[in-house]
Amino acid sequence: MTILHPLGLAALQSLPPETAHRAAITALKWGLGPKLKLDFPSLRTELAGLSLPNPVGLAAGFDKNAEVPDAMLAAGFGFVECGSVTPQPQIGNPKPRLFRLREDRGVINRMGFNNHGLDGFARNLKSRDRKTGIVGANLGANKDSADRIADYTQGLSRLWGCVDYFTINISSPNTPGLRDLQSGGALDDLLGQISETRAALTGDQPSPPIFLKVAPDLDTAQIERITEQARTYGMSGIIVSNTTISRPVDLKSTNKTETGGLSGTPLFKLSTRILSAFYAASEGRIPLIGVGGIASGGDAYIKIRAGANAVQLYSALIYEGPALAACICADLAARLQADGFKTIDEAVGSLGT
Ligand SMILES: Cc1cc2nc3c(=O)[nH]c(=O)nc-3n(C[C@H](O)[C@H](O)[C@H](O)COP(=O)(O)O)c2cc1C
Repeated sequence: MTILHPLGLAALQSLPPETAHRAAITALKWGLGPKLKLDFPSLRTELAGLSLPNPVGLAAGFDKNAEVPDAMLAAGFGFVECGSVTPQPQIGNPKPRLFRLREDRGVINRMGFNNHGLDGFARNLKSRDRKTGIVGANLGANKDSADRIADYTQGLSRLWGCVDYFTINISSPNTPGLRDLQSGGALDDLLGQISETRAALTGDQPSPPIFLKVAPDLDTAQIERITEQARTYGMSGIIVSNTTISRPVDLKSTNKTETGGLSGTPLFKLSTRILSAFYAASEGRIPLIGVGGIASGGDAYIKIRAGANAVQLYSALIYEGPALAACICADLAARLQADGFKTIDEAVGSLGT
């Protein structure tokens, strides 16, 4: 189900994917996106101190330069994550670098953090009315940075006060070596410097939440260690997950051989299994945001029951259009009611109970 006129969506889908994406952002900037007033009391929830009208968020990568957060909030998303933004502007990898896997309802991208940099991102955010809804900044590191950890702390300092939360993205597969920050000593160094920067910026004010975004390509020992480190350094939650470098054997589309991160429906199973593993490792003591292959209310509900306090999506928008969040919310509210849950919180982690 879509609210963008079916002909508009069909026209976008006939364009090369990156052209379609740029056209969608332009249309949203012109005010052509859906404007929906959603009110589902059972979906209101708290995530690490953020009051969300619903738990369905827009994942990073759609609005890399913070051009249309308010249009996406108006389309029904409960929160919007902009970025990834790097300190310096970056053109990313050569095109083509974004591929539809139509038969699989998937996407492969090797964008490589193309973005306009922190200054442009901050300018866009400063011109918006903060009361419209919850907007976060997903921070990345420049490909040629001599000190990647400093890139993240620079992102925090530059955007402090401009957003409602931050995400430290160490899981994009398209910046060589970035995922190494997920392991042992490197993660200690990163999180140590993030918490020092946070303490210096906070003073006696409360800090905005800072989430860590991880890959789905992790084993149990890595999941347990990351969970422990996130808790030790006071991270506010873990976003599970980014795209995968793995390829399920049953992919049908010819584009399945493209290099990059796979997302959309073919990522659902893997990312949900990893989410459950994070929930088991954390025993519910750190908020989790479930991402990967959500295309329906049923998918979102499975993530929540697997342990997610909130969810995000991106790839399904490419196939379903911008009103998908609203459809998911309506379905989610009906599913909660049918199962006798009064709130999202009651359903979190209920798959194992
Ligand atoms: C084209 C594209 C660009 C993306 N760019 C980013 C990014 O810059 N930073 C990030 O953390 N995740 C990025 N992602 C990953 C998504 O935020 C999300 O974690 C992943 O796609 C799984 O969710 P989905 O299956 O709903 O798309 C990108 C995904 C796609 C498809």
